[in-house]
Amino acid sequence: MAKMDIALDLGTSYTSIFVSGNGIVLREPSVIAYFDDGGRRRVRAVGNEAYNMTDKAPEKTKTVCPIIDGSIKDPDACAEMLKEFIERIMPDSYMIRPKIRCVLGVPTGITVDEREMYESVLMRAGIDDISMVNSVMLAAIGVDMPVSSDFGGFIASIGGGSTEIAALSLCGIISGCSVNIGGDMIDRVLMDSISGIYNLNAGRPVVKSVKEKVCSLIRNDCATAMISGIDIETKTIRAQAVSADRLYDAVYYYYMNIIDAVESVINTCSPTVAAEIQRCGITVVGGGAKIPGLAKLMSEALRLKVRVPREAQYATALGGGKLLSDPYLLEDILSHA
Ligand SMILES: Nc1ncnc2c1ncn2[C@@H]1O[C@H](COP(=O)(O)OP(=O)(O)OP(=O)(O)O)[C@@H](O)[C@H]1O
Ligand SMILES: [Mg+2]
Repeated sequence: MAKMDIALDLGTSYTSIFVSGNGIVLREPSVIAYFDDGGRRRVRAVGNEAYNMTDKAPEKTKTVCPIIDGSIKDPDACAEMLKEFIERIMPDSYMIRPKIRCVLGVPTGITVDEREMYESVLMRAGIDDISMVNSVMLAAIGVDMPVSSDFGGFIASIGGGSTEIAALSLCGIISGCSVNIGGDMIDRVLMDSISGIYNLNAGRPVVKSVKEKVCSLIRNDCATAMISGIDIETKTIRAQAVSADRLYDAVYYYYMNIIDAVESVINTCSPTVAAEIQRCGITVVGGGAKIPGLAKLMSEALRLKVRVPREAQYATALGGGKLLSDPYLLEDILSHA
């Protein structure tokens, strides 16, 4: 029977799929849109198409984000979204459906019941064989950290729903935590800042794009963008230039909270591990690591070397991909989970 090996990162903001032999073949927003067909919900769109309907869809169409704060919160919607993504990545060359083996990134602290729920979601989406690995471990493998050595490195992954932090050793996590600060929270804060500073109500997708294209952690950054929204006083549509400099305080505050959480995890480590962290520095991944100025800010605050790899947002899916071709490392990691 034909086989297909995939690695799956089910993120709060994005779902990424890596296919063995092809690399990352899909990265789309974790969103599904339903049409209310007389009380029955029918899938109308998933991924980019569904995300583009946010705040724009007519009354009978609702968009759902099945993953919240890093965990599946709507299993039915998640299975339907994933089923559609799997259909999309299926090459036409397969006459019969291949057996799909999957390495899946799962959040820190997942319970037995949640594991069962994750398994049932993936099976409903058409996946036959599932190996669950902690997402932050996958991210570390994805950016080539030596996770099986006696000090595997220190990593923080800033996602859409949460930030996961871990010190790694011998294929396991020595110390770590997950904090619910991520890109979604920063988007909400930026929406409020834009209303307060510019007297403008801007839509969520617009604000997210401002965060990704304009905001930075560099003081006096003069990057700007024109956005449109509703003037809070006149209730009329208005274009407005927004600048990184004026939004700096809002993003700085949340990134400093993340840096504080990183520092707390470092402080729980033994002196030997702390010395290794001092020697090797820390690696920051996830989409939230892409904000300009993060490495410098973090490095100055923690007095440590900080690395933000170029492929930061793909780290988890890439790590899953590497495990697909390294069964011994996969076995080692599963036995230490
Ligand atoms: N240049 C940028 N500056 C700041 N944030 C960014 C940038 N680029 C992407 N992001 C944010 O990164 C987040 C997505 O990152 P990522 O794909 O790692 O999250 P996820 O895996 O979907 O979420 P989680 O791991 O929390 O479940 C989004 O909030 C996105 O807006
Ligand atoms: Mg993630």
